[in-house]
Amino acid sequence: MRNEEMLLIPGPTPVVDSIYDAMASETRGHTDPRFVEIYKRSIERTREMLKTDGEVFVIAGSGTIGMEMALVNTVGAGERILVISHGYFGDRFIQLGKAFGIEIDVLQAEWGKRVALEEVERQLSEHTYKAVTITHADTSTGVAADLEGLVPIVKKHGALVILDGVCATAAMEEDMSKEYGEAGYKIDVVLTGSQKAIGVPPGLAIVAFNQTALEARKQLGRIPAYYSDIENWIPIMHDPSKYFATPPVNLIYAYDEGMRLVLEEGLEKRYARHTAFGRGVRAALREYGMIPLADEEVAASTLSCFHYPEGVIDADFRAALAKEGLIVAGSLAHLAGKAFRMGHMGNTTEEMLISAIKKIGGALNAVGHEAPIEQAINRFKAEVEATV
Ligand SMILES: Cc1ncc(COP(=O)(O)O)c(C=O)c1O
Repeated sequence: MRNEEMLLIPGPTPVVDSIYDAMASETRGHTDPRFVEIYKRSIERTREMLKTDGEVFVIAGSGTIGMEMALVNTVGAGERILVISHGYFGDRFIQLGKAFGIEIDVLQAEWGKRVALEEVERQLSEHTYKAVTITHADTSTGVAADLEGLVPIVKKHGALVILDGVCATAAMEEDMSKEYGEAGYKIDVVLTGSQKAIGVPPGLAIVAFNQTALEARKQLGRIPAYYSDIENWIPIMHDPSKYFATPPVNLIYAYDEGMRLVLEEGLEKRYARHTAFGRGVRAALREYGMIPLADEEVAASTLSCFHYPEGVIDADFRAALAKEGLIVAGSLAHLAGKAFRMGHMGNTTEEMLISAIKKIGGALNAVGHEAPIEQAINRFKAEVEATV
């Protein structure tokens, strides 16, 4: 990897050389058949990753436009949604819904915890919702949603499942053909971005709608959107030589290569690798006295949020790490200054994580907190070995 720094924030994530090389290929016209072929293939690869027989959209924009597409194409003004929030990004659906006149109820977990399934069941029994938003892995807390538990409850009550996969897709199972519960319920919409577990630079929103969600779009008629109206994009996704808005040609090259790598590794192997990395990193950093915000049973495999040991100052620690060429992220909202977040997803490798654990130990030692580096690395290796 030609990266000079190790970027272990919860996205963007490390980009491998073959993706950079693809991105640096000659910019062609967006209707040039050579580009159109690549765009088509990247859409097909996305379809294969999400296992959907619905519609897939790969467009310029960040994860947020994906959230907007998901919501505005399925829920109309005055209709009601339930937001299940495990942190800052779950909450984003509240602002988004409000912007479009959507009525919103929220079930908010304490940061680091999950909303209880019983609470969701109760809320859905008492009220009717058009859709329920679920954040697969909330990047502010490192909490993963329990899809096995949530999807059947939501669908049983007739609401659409909108899944925000921005910090999960390609690392945590998102299979739109999978049948949840005895009645065989399915996820209706998945949205994501290019820059996290897919491991491609930021700039693409990826969204998939199943037939139920597409029917919901039809029922809405006109919607208060233009760029994010899927009806404007469906003809382009079927035939990318057509024009609606200029696609980011070089990012599509990069994304196509990223998707090739995802499928080449194999989804099951990739999910197992991420599970191992998550467990390994958390076990290792516990050796340093760092306490994950999320308990292991609810922790995401893509990123973790850690409380500092007593006396370690956030700015000093992260500055010491940056000197070593390792970049991690601060925490958000009330945890700013009290915890940090570390990504362990996408193109990140075991070797990189071992090196990161070493650097984190070094930085802790540099700021006066004793850190048993060998012990932590051994814990990481043991967890990884036990998991994959
Ligand atoms: C879970 C989740 N959803 C949505 C977003 C918003 O994505 P973006 O910043 O690409 O617009 C993020 C960004 O980090 C995220 O982590």
